[in-house]
Amino acid sequence: MILIANKEGGPGIEKCAEALRKGTHGLDAMVEGISLVEADPTIRSVGYGGWPNLLGDMEFDAGVMDGTTREVGAVGALKHTYHAVQVARAVMQKLNHVMVTGDGADRLAAEIGLEKVDTLLEHSRDVWQRKLDGILSDDEKANFPDIPLAPLNSTITDPEKVRDTTVYICQDVAKATHAATSTSGWGWKYPGRLGDSPIAGAGYYADSRFGAAACTHTGEMTIRAGTARTIVLAMRLGHTLADAVKLAIEEISELKEGFIAGLVIHAIDTKGNHKVVSYNLDEAAKYWFWTPDMEKPELRTSEVV
Ligand code: GLY
Repeated sequence: MILIANKEGGPGIEKCAEALRKGTHGLDAMVEGISLVEADPTIRSVGYGGWPNLLGDMEFDAGVMDGTTREVGAVGALKHTYHAVQVARAVMQKLNHVMVTGDGADRLAAEIGLEKVDTLLEHSRDVWQRKLDGILSDDEKANFPDIPLAPLNSTITDPEKVRDTTVYICQDVAKATHAATSTSGWGWKYPGRLGDSPIAGAGYYADSRFGAAACTHTGEMTIRAGTARTIVLAMRLGHTLADAVKLAIEEISELKEGFIAGLVIHAIDTKGNHKVVSYNLDEAAKYWFWTPDMEKPELRTSEVV
């Protein structure tokens, strides 16, 4: 067994490790862990603590993948509950679809019993308002939100500027690998923007025969390069985990045009190996690592390329 999560996944990592140790299915263990992250207002890139879009609305994205069946469930632009990962699992388990967005995602959230809540923290609303006030002209303020939003797209972003996510990948007691993600996405994003967190093959992928991968930071890049799928497919074609991650980074570094920034790749194979690599970031990202011989998960530092 092995569990890897990014640093922001901290609030749920011990719960998830405990569940894996008890033999819980890996996907359910990770959904349990990520639900705690989503509810923690101190985690500023996921769930309740996340930043809103340009209109001041929270929009949550999440994805889950069962590596044994290769079933996927994902939601995008969910607004009225921050437990996006539970709704993603419901898409996988209750619908004949793999992805549901917007009002449909909120409808499914209600159908599985998630209460409709105000998902925007007062502090986040104040920061959102101050940022807008700092860049809009008096005329734009008077007409907001009926103004073109596209020119604002490259002007403001979240205070951390990380476009982070929560990603968990694991191999469970049944030797099955799984992946799960959740995010509030890019702060001050254009309304309706989806990153890689709900896109299987980009932000996450799992195949119990080979391993799993998940990415944080700039989803615009991993969507274009199909990063998580590249890693698992490379292992399918006989590459080691290290070579598979290297190949994915080479593919990413071929992208020269469009929006280019940093990202972090988290990956495991089925032999107990893992690799976490920061690409094009000022400092090495941290990540959580746990195996059953350890009393508690520990925070480690990624490689940097
Ligand atoms: N990787 C998270 C996002 O792009 O939204």
